[in-house]
Amino acid sequence: MRAASPSGSPLLSARGLEIRFGGVVAANGIDLDVFEHENLAIIGPNGAGKTTFLNICTGYLTPQAGSVRFEGGELIGQPPRRITRLGIARAFQIPQLFTEHTVLENMLLAAAVRERSWNPFRSLASLPQRGEMLELLDLVGCADLHDKRAADLPEGQRKLVDIAIALALKPRLLLMDEPTSGVASADKFAVMEILVSALRTAKVSSVFVEHDMEMVTRYASRVAVWSQGKIQMTGEPTRVLSDPDVIRTVIGG
Ligand SMILES: Nc1ncnc2c1ncn2[C@@H]1O[C@H](COP(=O)(O)OP(=O)(O)OP(=O)(O)O)[C@@H](O)[C@H]1O
Ligand SMILES: [Mg+2]
Repeated sequence: MRAASPSGSPLLSARGLEIRFGGVVAANGIDLDVFEHENLAIIGPNGAGKTTFLNICTGYLTPQAGSVRFEGGELIGQPPRRITRLGIARAFQIPQLFTEHTVLENMLLAAAVRERSWNPFRSLASLPQRGEMLELLDLVGCADLHDKRAADLPEGQRKLVDIAIALALKPRLLLMDEPTSGVASADKFAVMEILVSALRTAKVSSVFVEHDMEMVTRYASRVAVWSQGKIQMTGEPTRVLSDPDVIRTVIGG
């Protein structure tokens, strides 16, 4: 894994984020920088505000206070679609695939949406992005599945195709909420291995929420610990995961 002490100017910078839902404080002064070339894991107990943070960064929630800057520009107040175009992609826990379409058709739809060239009267097979989409499928080890119906893929491969679709948007940063949830435990590490290697090749930084500490140890270059809407600690995975407070609040010991 890469060095745990990131340097240079951050890609994404969150400052003073606050959001309340009735009496629940889901973000209570979140400050976090995400740097280029890192895979930052977010860990923390249920309800700590991890998904809320991703929702704020992608424009699905507007905080009551604070700012998120991405490559210098303010994201708060921008709609999700605009944030995607600025270079932040999101992969979902449940891949958002058109299940009756083939894998390649799903990729071509994503490319057409990216280039605003979607036209229901034009056949997907005639789109010029076919070669580029096959290359992205190859990057996530799914090129030979291009003509399979998305509905017929096992969960691990659906996740990888979902990642390839996110990469088709040419992001600089990919946000993922429990990327291997729902994948059979025997396949989790293989799926994550392919995912992390694809991100490295595509030069895309990532932030991923993760509950499996072995996954964090193996694949995160840095960890941020969420607790009751705050960041309790950030640092290098083995140091953070051996911290007594983190063990008590997150790992349960
Ligand atoms: N849109 C919303 N409306 C009302 N309450 C919300 C909303 N989104 C989140 N919350 C509440 O904010 C708190 C933080 O939720 P969040 O989903 O961010 O937690 P999390 O850390 O992702 O938890 P988990 O590990 O269970 O996924 C929870 O109490 C949740 O019920
Ligand atoms: Mg969550």
